[in-house]
Amino acid sequence: MSKKNNGLTKDYTTNEILKRVFQYALKSKWTLIFSVLLLIVFTSLQMIQPLITKKVIDDELTGVQTIWEKTNDDTKAFYNGDYYVKSENFTGDLITIKYSNEKKGYILIQGGYTNNYQTKDIDGNNIILVDEEGIEKTSTFVFLGDDITNFYDLSAKPIIRWILIYAIISIIVIITRYVQTISFTFASMKLTLDIRKTCFDKLNRLPVSYFSKEPAGKTVTKMIYDSEGVRGLYDVIFSIFSATISLVIVYVGLFVLDYKLALLTLSAFPIVILWLTVYRRIVNKFNKRIRETNSRINGKLAEFVNSVGIIQIFNKEEKMSNEYDLMLKDNYGTKMKQLKVNTFFGNQMLLFIERIIIMFVLFYFGLQYFSLPSLLIATTISVYIDYIQRLVWPIAEIFGNLNSLEDSLVSASRVFDFLDSKEDIGLDAVSGVKLSGDIEFKNLNFQYEHDNYVLHDINFKVQSGQFIGLVGHTGSGKTTLMNLLERYYDLEEGNIFVDGVDYNTYSKFDIRENIGIILQDASIFEGTIKSNVAFGTEATDDEVIEVLRNIGADKFIYDYPEGIHSKVSYRGENLSTGEKQLLSFARILLKNPSILILDEATANIDTETEGLIQKALKTLAKDRTTFVVAHRLSTIKDADIIYLFEDGRIFEKGSHEELYKKKGKYRAMYDAQYQK
Ligand SMILES: Nc1ncnc2c1ncn2[C@@H]1O[C@H](COP(=O)(O)OP(=O)(O)OP(=O)(O)O)[C@@H](O)[C@H]1O
Ligand SMILES: [Mg+2]
Repeated sequence: MSKKNNGLTKDYTTNEILKRVFQYALKSKWTLIFSVLLLIVFTSLQMIQPLITKKVIDDELTGVQTIWEKTNDDTKAFYNGDYYVKSENFTGDLITIKYSNEKKGYILIQGGYTNNYQTKDIDGNNIILVDEEGIEKTSTFVFLGDDITNFYDLSAKPIIRWILIYAIISIIVIITRYVQTISFTFASMKLTLDIRKTCFDKLNRLPVSYFSKEPAGKTVTKMIYDSEGVRGLYDVIFSIFSATISLVIVYVGLFVLDYKLALLTLSAFPIVILWLTVYRRIVNKFNKRIRETNSRINGKLAEFVNSVGIIQIFNKEEKMSNEYDLMLKDNYGTKMKQLKVNTFFGNQMLLFIERIIIMFVLFYFGLQYFSLPSLLIATTISVYIDYIQRLVWPIAEIFGNLNSLEDSLVSASRVFDFLDSKEDIGLDAVSGVKLSGDIEFKNLNFQYEHDNYVLHDINFKVQSGQFIGLVGHTGSGKTTLMNLLERYYDLEEGNIFVDGVDYNTYSKFDIRENIGIILQDASIFEGTIKSNVAFGTEATDDEVIEVLRNIGADKFIYDYPEGIHSKVSYRGENLSTGEKQLLSFARILLKNPSILILDEATANIDTETEGLIQKALKTLAKDRTTFVVAHRLSTIKDADIIYLFEDGRIFEKGSHEELYKKKGKYRAMYDAQYQK
């Protein structure tokens, strides 16, 4: 079975998935082995309990109906001046105690008569007994009445002993069961922990390109929900495994009790297995549909939450709500159908099979043990039925788990697919090199997707400390070039040299240590102004205030009562765009990288704030190689060199004055923006 069509890069077979889950499970192998041992212990002990009940009934409670012999032991049953004990080898002075339907009570017959003897006639003090072959024997008897208790009293001690054993077994079962559950859960929680941690480590090693392809929500789902699914798989496997162990143990019990009947019951298994297969198919069909509707509901919800503003502006709430409603109904309908199928084919069917087997057992015993006293058969049957119910329980357990097996397999394959995704290269080596910021792009071509070049033949040099403006129409490749410089993507054609060295020789970590990036959407995190500026460094309050002052952001900070310790909410919702941008400037100034990239960082800012940002930018760009990608040309007017991109190529280059005089594309763009 393969798990395609789940958007995975690879096909995972069930075997492969199980093998990998098993590898994780091996990490807590001792806990698991311990847990399995306990399972065997308590299942076996539970098997003994019905046998004890049988023993108490057969030997003690009803065992009074047997052959007794006279003894000198005065601790035994006392009757009419003599002591009696249950006879084992039928010698000596024998009597037989038997229940008489005619007398409605127990009678004491002189002589030893086995269970094969049935009463033929009773007359006065004489009784005529007849055995299987029809041979008759006559003997005298007395009606025991209440004196039967003398014979019963003897059983009190053994019964108490058996009850004690029964109780001790019960206690051991409770304790081992408890420890078993705890130890197994411990191992399975550890597995989730392991997988979550591995996933998180993986997350940090993925290239940025991964996240541009994969929606964030999906990754989060994988890490939280699907890793839980791996645990589900592990639980399912283990419970199927333990159900199998119980099954085997119950079978051993059945064999001990009556091997012929055990063999016969075994023949019911092909039916059960056939049933399991059919059932699994049906359930999978529903599960797949439920999974699909679930993921569509999640997607819709995420879409709604992300664009709730625009939906409200367009008054599309009702439309969205209707669409959502339909999906919920679809999901609900499938779940209801699944429930019906499950209840009928899962539990009910199993109960039905159980009843059939029980009827079969009754029939079998009826034929086999016709000659035995009814009570003996009754106890054996009751133990047998008890066992059969214990046989059905593990099967029900397996049925129940099959339901989630498929889900867990899908989850696990998603997690493993995530763990198998290609990692970013060059992450490990950290040299701590401080770059000065000489950059050369040489014969650089780039494509995100095969055969679709977005950068062609890029060749230019930047000296340390220069201010470079990048302009061009949307989609012309400006951001892409910067992405390459940041090493978010790996170069395939051409080179980038930094300080005269091929930048691939530096580790990505080194490169990123030396680059500061500011994007249009300033990344602000929940915390304080200080935590956003210091951003993981040990900067002191004074240092933070100092950079804020240099950036020119100190004025707005003083508007907040708590200064740099003022709270910043999630994504900086309580700050203006300009304020957020200034904070990210300050963050970079503190980091002090030799290369700075601003991509549309000033696009959303009003003209007044722009003045502030421009000043801040000057401070920031000082002694740094700075790339500024801007649509608003005033931002890059002061650039040392401006590169104008067109369809992934450098179309014009030069200073603002040069390009302005040239009356080419740049001039046209400039005039369009600042028409006089
Ligand atoms: N992750 C990506 N995968 C595939 N193609 C991409 C990816 N990012 C960008 N592109 C494509 O590469 C081309 C250049 O995009 P890029 O983002 O570099 O343009 P830009 O000049 O920065 O545009 P803008 O001014 O709108 O920001 C576009 O055609 C775009 O569709
Ligand atoms: Mg861009």
